[in-house]
Amino acid sequence: ALIIAKRMKDRSNWNHALAILEDFHRESATPLQRLQQIVNAMLVEMRKGLAAENESTMKMLITHINSLPTGDEKGVFYALDLGGTNFRVLRVQLGGKKKGIVQQDYEEKHLPSHLMTGTNTELFDYVASELANFVSEEGTRYNLPRDQTRELGVTFSFPVKQNSVASGTLINWTKGFAVTGTVGKDVVEELQAAMVRRGLKMRVAALVNDTVGTLARGRYVSGDVMIAVILGTGTNACYLERVDAIPKMKDALQRSGNMVINMEWGNFSSSFLPRTKIDDALDMDSINPGYQSFEKLVSGMYLGEIVRRLLLKLAREADFFGENVPPKLTMSFILSTPNICSLHQDDSSDLQMVAKTLEEVLEIRGTSLEVRQIVVEVCDIVARRGARLSGSGIVAILKKLRRSAIISGDAELHKARLSWQGQRTIVAVDGGLYEHYPKYREYMQAAVVELVGEQTAAQVSIEFTNDGSGIGAALLAACYSEEATP
Ligand code: GLC
Repeated sequence: ALIIAKRMKDRSNWNHALAILEDFHRESATPLQRLQQIVNAMLVEMRKGLAAENESTMKMLITHINSLPTGDEKGVFYALDLGGTNFRVLRVQLGGKKKGIVQQDYEEKHLPSHLMTGTNTELFDYVASELANFVSEEGTRYNLPRDQTRELGVTFSFPVKQNSVASGTLINWTKGFAVTGTVGKDVVEELQAAMVRRGLKMRVAALVNDTVGTLARGRYVSGDVMIAVILGTGTNACYLERVDAIPKMKDALQRSGNMVINMEWGNFSSSFLPRTKIDDALDMDSINPGYQSFEKLVSGMYLGEIVRRLLLKLAREADFFGENVPPKLTMSFILSTPNICSLHQDDSSDLQMVAKTLEEVLEIRGTSLEVRQIVVEVCDIVARRGARLSGSGIVAILKKLRRSAIISGDAELHKARLSWQGQRTIVAVDGGLYEHYPKYREYMQAAVVELVGEQTAAQVSIEFTNDGSGIGAALLAACYSEEATP
């Protein structure tokens, strides 16, 4: 009788687990019609954000960047890339059209997590001292005169209200950063002050978002790049907009030309977004509840955490991993996106990689094949939703480009419109999520094809732009160096 009772309990637990999975699947579904609604909602928010400040969930920030690298840039330029779990310093030697990038060096450091929630001075002092070390180690290799001021491009991947290309104040932190004393301050002034404290002589020629760096890096290679997207710890996009389509810019109607717009799409929000109770709880427990809704469904920082929360629910409510809840599974953010990726992409018939990852990361041993299959299914649902949403974001920008083109009709504009009728548009993408997660890339591409049709999609090329955000900042430092802007 005991055995029968246990079997019945197992069966009812199993059915309950399937029901939980089913609910999550249904609530997070992204059928084509839903994606179309999201594209339209995003277009509405884009227009609102371009019309006035604080009217949209997307800030549509004016970057002041209206000239992008052409390939003619020459000289040695530096970059600093701050905005995720890693922090980098770079040096790029540019040789003009024929030679291109002659030499590039970089150093990547893990940003100690206490600095992400420490004070402003601690953060900038650390960054400045790493930069100073990097510069001092170069010796005389580049024959730069001793007293020459080096030109620096700074990638700072947070929402910044730019006052000019080389100055801007932090609007708010995102992605788990909560450094005190920086919001409202000019990021360049803070960095310059720290560099002075460290005796480092550098001029910040450009302060840019990582999306903008990626756009610049893409442009250096091809004039067809109109859009840049980051899919990493966080997510965001920028694109080249017509100035006359940006009413909130003073004199917009009298001015011509283009302006790079940093959308801050991570904060996009709409009732059409397929959110579940798990997403609501994740948001409530986050450092910035109510903000970055899109980012929390799409980007690398959160995918693993969504999966963990769902597995924990299965464990608690349906004894999914046995009678006890595995203790590690209760730890926030213990599952990283690389973990999800290896759980998700196990091709073996007995899912050995899944078993290994569960064991190593969560100390869950002896899972059955059926359980492992469900774990894979959970990863699939979460990654697919994120990827399809980011694909929809790209389509919204493509549509926006086409609309602006039809309204004004000059040459550069025409190009955007033509991109739908014969000319290529390149979307430059950077970020670890995109780089290391092939299934995510596939799902994203598939959503774009579904939304715009195969013929149009064939003219849109989504290209990985390695190290776009870092090198792009150095390229922009070249465009806006003292020499280039007398
Ligand atoms: C966050 C930041 C944004 C950045 C993105 C990708 O969304 O707010 O500025 O571009 O992460 O790093």
